[in-house]
Amino acid sequence: MNTSEAIRKRRSIRKYKEGVVIPRKDIETILEAAMMAPSARNTRPWEFVVVESREGKEKIMEIQPYTGMLKTASAAIIVCGLPEVQKEANCSEFWPEDCGAAIENILLQALELGYGTCWCGFYPVEDRVKALKEAFDLKSVPLAVVALGVPDEEPAARGYFDPEKVRYI
Ligand SMILES: Cc1cc2nc3c(=O)[nH]c(=O)nc-3n(C[C@H](O)[C@H](O)[C@H](O)COP(=O)(O)O)c2cc1C
Repeated sequence: MNTSEAIRKRRSIRKYKEGVVIPRKDIETILEAAMMAPSARNTRPWEFVVVESREGKEKIMEIQPYTGMLKTASAAIIVCGLPEVQKEANCSEFWPEDCGAAIENILLQALELGYGTCWCGFYPVEDRVKALKEAFDLKSVPLAVVALGVPDEEPAARGYFDPEKVRYI
């Protein structure tokens, strides 16, 4: 699958084949792709927590009401930002953008490996961030959770190109 196909085929997956254990090497390929993302001044202000246990996934579902797909997902990747890293580097606070780029790489790399994903938002919803930090003893800022698993649904690809949203100067 080339990049063009992956971008156009990707959909959020909310139903996964249950009981699948994702090989560690696939998780590492996906996280390596995440860490290949561009970042402001190459500060790479991110870290990742891979939650595979049922109890861990249940904790996330209790905190964020739109994460029900974790019931069947094999794993939940918590993507965390490190604002301090950018502060120390005297870099403006671009960490949410940097983490967003890392997340998109996760979605596309996972798709190429045959997995489905769903991006679930946390930051900047304060109560979600606080609760997730407490639940997993995180020192960094959880920006999002990405559900990961083998898809058990196949939503059709769709296109959104809207020339009205483009202005040439
Ligand atoms: C910042 C962000 C937060 C999102 N949060 C959730 C969420 O909490 N639960 C969910 O099911 N989908 C969530 N999504 C997925 C969007 O609903 C989805 O991307 C959008 O409806 C377009 O559908 P598609 O991903 O299939 O193209 C989120 C996406 C983004 C970018």
